[in-house]
Amino acid sequence: MQPVNEARIIDSWQRNVAPWVAAVRQQRIESRALVTNQAIVDAVASRCPRSVLDIGCGEGWLVRELMTRGFQVTGVDAVPLLIEQARAEGGDFQVASYEAIAGGALKLVADMLVCNFSLLGEHSVDQLIRAVPSLLHAGGTLVVQTLHPLMACGGQSYRDGWREGSWDGIEGSFSDPAPWYFRTLESWIRLFRSSGLQLCELREPLHPVSGKPVSAIFIAQPAR
Ligand SMILES: C[S@@+](CC[C@H](N)C(=O)[O-])C[C@H]1O[C@@H](n2cnc3c(N)ncnc32)[C@H](O)[C@@H]1O
Repeated sequence: MQPVNEARIIDSWQRNVAPWVAAVRQQRIESRALVTNQAIVDAVASRCPRSVLDIGCGEGWLVRELMTRGFQVTGVDAVPLLIEQARAEGGDFQVASYEAIAGGALKLVADMLVCNFSLLGEHSVDQLIRAVPSLLHAGGTLVVQTLHPLMACGGQSYRDGWREGSWDGIEGSFSDPAPWYFRTLESWIRLFRSSGLQLCELREPLHPVSGKPVSAIFIAQPAR
């Protein structure tokens, strides 16, 4: 079941490139426009990295945004069509899955790794996070933004596990939503610790109207 779910994630992104690119570039996702885009840019900038690797970069908006601020950025994603779209707008991009990155496919190290709403699977993500220390320069930082577990949990019990996905709330001709692996806050922190990382900061950006946390941003570094 799990390898099937991991494959369905990539398959779903492959099928939904066109509506996704339109939704991101036309700022159709309210929480991004209101809160989370600025929150991830601020989190990256707060650590002053010179080089950044955007893992699961999608169509590349964050790479471009960080480039305009003077950072040296590379984006990587498993979906070739997304990388094609990203390259068309300019920037340095590579195709690689998390499994391949964990296996040493990238041949690069950076001051910072950033994952913006891109850690969706179970074993693929576990493998990637375990490889983080080998992808960072000494003193480097990992920044992960994900849906806030308390808000994303919905009516189900607050336990790790695969959940059915949905494109609800995003306008566009999307199909075949992928399953995703829900992790509690405790479980995220355990994953970082067991991967040799130390949590430096946890940010919880709030929705300006509801006052609820939209996302969680983890900032972690290899433990000394
Ligand atoms: C919600 S999108 C986020 C894209 C981008 N970070 C952004 O902020 O717009 C999730 C991205 O993660 C990528 N992704 C998911 N699982 C992956 C895996 N195992 N290997 C590589 N990329 C993966 C998808 O292809 C997709 O582009």
